[in-house]
Amino acid sequence: MEQRNPLTTAKMRKMKKDGVPISMVTAYDYPSARLAEEAGIDTILVGDSLGNVVLGYDSTLPVTLDDMVYHTRAVTRGAASTFVVADMPFMTYHGGIDTTIKAVSRLMQEGLAKAVKMEGGTEIAATVEAVTKAGVPVMGHIGLTPQSVYQIGGYRVQGKNSEQARKLLDDAKAIEQAGAFAVVLELVTEELAAWITKEVSIPTIGIGASANCDGQVLVFHDLLQYGASSAPRKFVKAYANIGETIRDGIAQYVKEVKARSFPAKENVFTMDNDVVQYLYGDKE
Ligand code: KIV
Repeated sequence: MEQRNPLTTAKMRKMKKDGVPISMVTAYDYPSARLAEEAGIDTILVGDSLGNVVLGYDSTLPVTLDDMVYHTRAVTRGAASTFVVADMPFMTYHGGIDTTIKAVSRLMQEGLAKAVKMEGGTEIAATVEAVTKAGVPVMGHIGLTPQSVYQIGGYRVQGKNSEQARKLLDDAKAIEQAGAFAVVLELVTEELAAWITKEVSIPTIGIGASANCDGQVLVFHDLLQYGASSAPRKFVKAYANIGETIRDGIAQYVKEVKARSFPAKENVFTMDNDVVQYLYGDKE
């Protein structure tokens, strides 16, 4: 595989300026990262959505820093030429700067991430600033922030009235001011996405936020229908159905094992005839 010139935060900012859309997908392990890189993705997010789509939890809250480090390490092994961003899991950046910096260090030194992502706006601006000043690129995440799902009261579109919309713009500006290199806008209206994208100089990466963002991110398992949530979501487009391919493949395997048609002649190893004779008698 040819080595690519990896994306940088400066290049992302230039892409925004030049109107070149940024593509991002989540990945959680070596093969998904390798395939995403081979497919030409600009940047990969090791999202804490791994809690839902890989670990089987019903939210991202149980995902630990150890989980994130482990999966980030696998992703960076698979996509060594891609700009990989790792999510800071629930409550790892709310306990003071020292604890936050320790968590960031693990994702960078053990996971080999190039940047970290944090959910929140004005209220985490000081943390974003401290981490940025420590030399680590930070991606923000506003709108629907899944780590606050119990406070928000569900996975619903954010910023629909003028007061909430204003608050989200202030959040975007606060984290831009704090030094974030980009910001994810999750589940916001297209009008609000356009407003924020115009008002901030850093790229906006949308999920459920329309084409009015500077880039798009989707969850690997949603985009490929890989054991993803059964409830269809309006903002997801399925580009393949690998869940069905996998299920059909395994069902066929089960059928052939039961029918003793697998393994077939071409799948087995044989011994020299004299050894066979030795084993089965006629040993002379
Ligand atoms: O965890 C994740 O996958 C995310 C994306 C939805 C942006 O944060």
